[in-house]
Amino acid sequence: MMASLDRSPNHLKYVFVNVMKPLRLFRSVICACLLTAANGLFADTVWIDQLNLSTAIQDYGTATSKKSLDGHSLTIAGKTFERGFATHAEGWLAIRLDGKAKSFSAQVGVDDEVKGKPGGTAEFVILGDGDRLWSSGLMRLGDAAKACQVSLAGVKLLELVVNDGGDNHYYDHANWAEAKIESDGPHPFQTFARNKGPAYILTPPAPATPRINGASVFGVRPGSPFLFTVPATGKRPMKFTATGLPKGLELDAQTGRITGRLATAGTYIATLRAENSEGVGEKEFRIVCGDRIALTPPMGWNSWNCFAGEVSADRVKRAAETMVKTGLINHGWTYINVDDFWQHHRDSNDPTLTGKARDEKGNIMPNQRFGDMKALADYIHELGLKAGLYSSPGPWTCGGCAGSYGHERLDAQAYAEWGFDYLKYDWCSYGALTEGMSATDPKVPTVSWGRGTSDVAIAQLPYRLMGEFLRQQPRDIVYSLCQYGMSNVWAWGDSVNGNCWRTTNDIAGSWKSMSTIALAQDQAATWAKPGNWNDPDMLILGVIGWGNPQPTRLTPDEQYLHFSLWCLFSAPLLIGCDMEKLDDFTLGLLTNDEVIAINQDALGHQAKCEDTVGEVRVYSKKLEDGSVAVGFCNFGPKPAKLDYANLARLGLKGSLRIRDLWRQRDIGTVKVGQEPLPLEIPSHGIVLLKFVQMATP
Ligand code: GLA
Repeated sequence: MMASLDRSPNHLKYVFVNVMKPLRLFRSVICACLLTAANGLFADTVWIDQLNLSTAIQDYGTATSKKSLDGHSLTIAGKTFERGFATHAEGWLAIRLDGKAKSFSAQVGVDDEVKGKPGGTAEFVILGDGDRLWSSGLMRLGDAAKACQVSLAGVKLLELVVNDGGDNHYYDHANWAEAKIESDGPHPFQTFARNKGPAYILTPPAPATPRINGASVFGVRPGSPFLFTVPATGKRPMKFTATGLPKGLELDAQTGRITGRLATAGTYIATLRAENSEGVGEKEFRIVCGDRIALTPPMGWNSWNCFAGEVSADRVKRAAETMVKTGLINHGWTYINVDDFWQHHRDSNDPTLTGKARDEKGNIMPNQRFGDMKALADYIHELGLKAGLYSSPGPWTCGGCAGSYGHERLDAQAYAEWGFDYLKYDWCSYGALTEGMSATDPKVPTVSWGRGTSDVAIAQLPYRLMGEFLRQQPRDIVYSLCQYGMSNVWAWGDSVNGNCWRTTNDIAGSWKSMSTIALAQDQAATWAKPGNWNDPDMLILGVIGWGNPQPTRLTPDEQYLHFSLWCLFSAPLLIGCDMEKLDDFTLGLLTNDEVIAINQDALGHQAKCEDTVGEVRVYSKKLEDGSVAVGFCNFGPKPAKLDYANLARLGLKGSLRIRDLWRQRDIGTVKVGQEPLPLEIPSHGIVLLKFVQMATP
């Protein structure tokens, strides 16, 4: 869209300059002086709030013109501004100038509307052709607006960036008040969208012959209902059989579902078989009946990154149906997890969320959008999938719905009776139990968010309590701790019966967020093992947006890197997108069985960065069969070309066969220590290889 410019001063300038033309005698002297004056007097102003802001990228909401993000007047430290625009960290707006602008100025700061909320810090940065022209430094809520004025002489591309203040990006409502560009004449400055580059699909189509994918090991407790759908690709109809299944389990030949119960602990080795008109596929499957579950990282979908507070039972059912229809179920995708907002809300005006949170006996009651939770879990199970739910140990979830505080036993019982298989338990208001008490009920704080704690005993308390109650239930419920890595949760999560735990703050839909989270994973890596997984948060692939749906802002290369790293990390893989809007590229990312096999490997090792070459970080993950998966990850802004000569550092030796996992093909061999490995890695991209030892002749 063309900038709507203020025309009148330019018109005057035009007349003024042209009237001078006939005065040839003094032209050289007088015109020079007058032109300079005219430029100063009639300089053109383009307000950023007049431009098309829909190209802006930000982690929350959409950029707003002349209003705060929540629709109020732009206000910084009590001062209101008529003009400007509001964005949110991580924020980015780019404007093409082609060297025609003179200067940019603004007054920046955090909007007062986030008072009382956690976070509210930001850094404002101005980039000219990629160079940092100005930075506000760290700004906090309540800081007076900072004025900036930068010269844009010769600058072709202006970028207005907002970084989070280092705490996380929550409530970083960032205002560029009075933001404007000055130039010498009317120029059609335009914003533009980031060019993500072509979406190229690497995953080859699955063959028509049967292939059994997914985990090769499965944990269950004695007496718990068993459900495992054999994930198999290939032409349908397909007939499933198994040998060596222990007593108590049976396999449905049509659906490939193994159900039943095991009475006694033990390890059972079965051979699964899938047959169709094209051939047969077989796989050894180890069933470990004991006290540990989630022996490979959980794989599934969660409602938060796409629907946030707009989730409903219908949407969840449709996500489950799509998991089957798209064939994702044939690659091992299993859980359908409802996040926040299935409960009643504390103070929403939305009638579908309001109502009594609990009955007289204290039983939790779902909101109107959900109604019958057992029916929902049954529906999901009938599709061969498993169901997950969300709560908080505090009185309120992070979204302000009813949490489990004081009702932990009843809630664990309800989840089991309804038939849920997974619980994400989110700290949220628990930290507020000792702060922000309400005047009317001192036990129940009115806020959804509380502080964290560095006291390990306090951090463990609510998780141990719910962990015990879950364990007492007659079904296996994967227990996912969500407290953002507080008190090194990875070191004690197992001791409170946790199966996975978030290691970091919430992921947002940006490269900055994803890469920052990825780079923070090494600290917890050694704690990962079968039944215990570090969780860097849900995937930001496909159409996401936390209630404001839009395609992921990651470039295709960034998406390959994201998914590959989560596999190398042995992370829970939870799709965060609107399943009904899955495109071929995203499906390609989610259905590469050789890449998924890295994640589901039974050894349960988590890759760490073992080497760094410039901006390339080398992550390696040991696999059960002795081979090693290696991700050469380029975190830098430029493509990397290198001859990698450090394979010995990854514990590799001798002659190795090299397999390109995304393309699913062998690409050659290498002799460690004798020849370097030539690599070309796209910017923000990955080369994901598996090295397999070759027999010595
Ligand atoms: C927290 C969690 C998110 C999500 C929301 C729900 O922010 O970290 O993953 O569950 O709460 O309110």
